[in-house]
Amino acid sequence: MEIHIVENAETGAKVVADVFARTLAEAGESGTVLGLATGSSPVPAYAELIRRHREEGLSFARSRAFLLDEYVGLPAGHEQSYHHFIRENFTAHIDIDDAAVVSPDGASADPVAEAASYDRRLRDAGGVDLQILGIGSNGHIAFNEPGSSLGSRTRVVGLARSTIEDNARYFASADDVPVRALSQGLGTILEARRIVLTATGQGKADAVAQLAEGAISARWPATALQMHPDVTVVVDEAAAAKL
Ligand code: GLP
Repeated sequence: MEIHIVENAETGAKVVADVFARTLAEAGESGTVLGLATGSSPVPAYAELIRRHREEGLSFARSRAFLLDEYVGLPAGHEQSYHHFIRENFTAHIDIDDAAVVSPDGASADPVAEAASYDRRLRDAGGVDLQILGIGSNGHIAFNEPGSSLGSRTRVVGLARSTIEDNARYFASADDVPVRALSQGLGTILEARRIVLTATGQGKADAVAQLAEGAISARWPATALQMHPDVTVVVDEAAAAKL
């Protein structure tokens, strides 16, 4: 695990964008499968990638993208769906084909079958070349809450109370936050060939300390990343305070 402690989110965004640019360059003609995350943490990196696309010609035309997760019960067009979030904050502003940006269907009548089919679609696409991740204050990645099996696959999960409270800022009230999600599992995420995780602010300090230095345990799901051979962690000083 390579850890970069940066001055602020903008500097961190450049480090993350460099990892994207390197991965895109390595893929060449065959194209890249990107794993995209929602939440506020990756947004500065997405902004930097949009800038590089516009000003430097960084192209995603041959890329495909798979989202990590989606709320159960929110249709794709819902303002708080992750399907909508990723378009608004990233993919609508670059040259990726919209149909190539795939997320689990939160409105599926059979979420359990949808989860299994999403996992298969990921595998059929050849797996993820680069997965970007944020981290929850309780150490979750995607929606793999504490207690998630380290080998878990894409599945329906219940959200922790703390996650519902953290994410309530996007909704009218905590009562409006869906209580279930479709989430790639820890085992699914670990299959990505390269991972970059970014976090800022003191609210993430405990989770970042566990991620880097804690014992590998389902108690802190992000510790599973210690088993992966190519992980870059980009954090500001506040998030790195307990390292
Ligand atoms: C949500 C997402 C995660 C994200 C986390 C942290 O729960 N499912 O993928 O990492 O929130 O969000 P933020 O980056 O806004 O702190």
